[in-house]
Amino acid sequence: MGVLAVVPAAGDGTRLAAGMAKALVRLGGVPLVVRAVDGLLASGAVDAVVVAVRAVDLDLVRDMLAGRDRVEVVVGGSDRTSSVRAALDHGLAEYPVTGTVLVHDAARALTPVSLVAELVAAVTAGARAVIPVLPLADTVKEVGPDACVRATVDRSVLRAVQTPQAFDVVTLRRAYAAAAEQGAPGATDDAGLVERLGEPVCTIPGDPLAFKITTPWDLRLAEMLVGAK
Ligand code: CTP
Ligand code: MG
Repeated sequence: MGVLAVVPAAGDGTRLAAGMAKALVRLGGVPLVVRAVDGLLASGAVDAVVVAVRAVDLDLVRDMLAGRDRVEVVVGGSDRTSSVRAALDHGLAEYPVTGTVLVHDAARALTPVSLVAELVAAVTAGARAVIPVLPLADTVKEVGPDACVRATVDRSVLRAVQTPQAFDVVTLRRAYAAAAEQGAPGATDDAGLVERLGEPVCTIPGDPLAFKITTPWDLRLAEMLVGAK
């Protein structure tokens, strides 16, 4: 087994406020989690997928993903890190993964398949951790509790981070084991846990289509993009 993908989809979607878990929200008639999983499979670079969802959504998402080989659904946790951990533990127990693990947000439902393939190729070529990033277009300022500006940040060294994030399986396993041992607070991404090991995390250019559907505005944008296709 070469490549396992883990898909955290157990969030409530508080900011989207759609009255259901964000992963279940339909985009062009297709739930975000189904789009995310099918995108990974369509890349041709992924051998198995484990999705983490809220316990209450387990049966529903299993039905949505039925008929796909080597796609499994487990119950996630109360934060993203624990959801990834649940799916990762299941995936590594179920499949003898020797190569790469991808971690990919269900909410990045329009991620191009080419980006998935590039990330897998980068780890296959020897990198331990590779993440897709974009430069920041806006000026970035640090603001105090009084809503006034403290400083202008040098944006030239900053990058916005997307998923999938790709890891050599040994490195990601070590990162999650260390985080459990240290009782470290969850990171907002998986590369953050690898950084804590002191291991290098490399970047490749991300893609605007890999944006995270977070707010109602993002969903509107996604609907327009799907409609325009
Ligand atoms: N996620 C998860 N388990 C959690 C929280 C988040 O699997 N306990 C997943 C989400 O389902 C999503 C991804 O992590 O695919 C990125 O999180 P985010 O965009 O913040 O989604 P939500 O947490 O659902 O949204 P919000 O923060 O607005 O509630
Ligand atoms: Mg969240």
